[in-house]
Amino acid sequence: MRINEPLVLGIETSCDETGVGIVRGRELLSNALASSVELHARFGGVVPEVASRAHLEAMLPTIELACSQAGVSLSDIDAIAVTAGPGLVGALIVGVASAKALALGLGKPIYGVNHLAAHVMVDELEHGPLPEPVIGLLVSGGHSSLIKVVNGDFTSLGQTLDDAAGEAFDKVARLLGLPFPGGPMIDQAAQNGDPNAIDFPRALRTDPAHAFNFSFSGLKTAVARWVKEQQRLGNAISVPDVAASVQEAIADILTSKAISAAVDQNAPHLVIAGGVAANSRLRALAAERCALAGIELRVPSPALCTDNGAMVAALGSHLLRAGAAPSPVDFPATSTLAVSEVLF
Ligand code: KG4
Ligand code: ZN
Repeated sequence: MRINEPLVLGIETSCDETGVGIVRGRELLSNALASSVELHARFGGVVPEVASRAHLEAMLPTIELACSQAGVSLSDIDAIAVTAGPGLVGALIVGVASAKALALGLGKPIYGVNHLAAHVMVDELEHGPLPEPVIGLLVSGGHSSLIKVVNGDFTSLGQTLDDAAGEAFDKVARLLGLPFPGGPMIDQAAQNGDPNAIDFPRALRTDPAHAFNFSFSGLKTAVARWVKEQQRLGNAISVPDVAASVQEAIADILTSKAISAAVDQNAPHLVIAGGVAANSRLRALAAERCALAGIELRVPSPALCTDNGAMVAALGSHLLRAGAAPSPVDFPATSTLAVSEVLF
């Protein structure tokens, strides 16, 4: 640890996780998390108003926990970073208002940053400076995008035309009667299933106009049709086989397009980020295919893939080192924020 590196506290509230992380330079000191996921489970998805209220209740205890785990006090913090978007606007407002209050109270600069860029930048905490150019495969409950990072600039190469990959996992899990959030449940069920049991579709695989775009809504429909047909025929449904086959379809299309993007853009490095990057099959298939293609693969450990405060602190710390000017104190929470807008 270089003691003179700035201490950055990051706040994340874009969805259902209240995350507060503290980093010194690229060193992770703490990553406190309070999740409202259980409050949403019975609705099968995140209820925005419920999430906002939960952030409000969790904010101060989570800040205190992050400071105590890091062994620092608030007066030691050099800068505050906060997710300004994209995300649920009410949830974002709680984080942004809290971060502004902290920054003003402490007299420290504030960085209002992009959640998607933060998902990618968290990898620096585990694997050191991001090489450039690097391709980012960003896969979460709300986003599935391929991006390119050069000189700290984030450019979108393509994205999903409909459902996000995490959304596809969640919707298929619901069809199979598995609880929300469905991604980890499918991952678990798939451990005992046959990934080749059912040949689910890989949408936009060969369409040159959509080389770096994704589409997952047809997959959910295909699973619903398949389940209905088996029920009509009176066949037993093997949840592990369906889970493994769906997971294979998603991992296959994500990795093949990410590797094509890396080859096309002459970028021999790939980082996979976002909640779906925690998926065990996606990680294994990406490792296999990147090794074959001579591409260096970087994937944060699962706890840093799903939403957390350390990723926001990591991006704030990166921007601070790069000499970026802090955000104006009146920057807004923005529910739709393009990945190219890294900092307000
Ligand atoms: O990045 P994240 O925590 O929140 C958003 O910004 O959306 O991603 C949440 C998504 C959910 O859809 C969840 O089902 C999915 O990530 N997810 C997974 C796994 N763990 C979380 N999907 C597949 N396999 C997993 N192991
Ligand atoms: Zn996220």
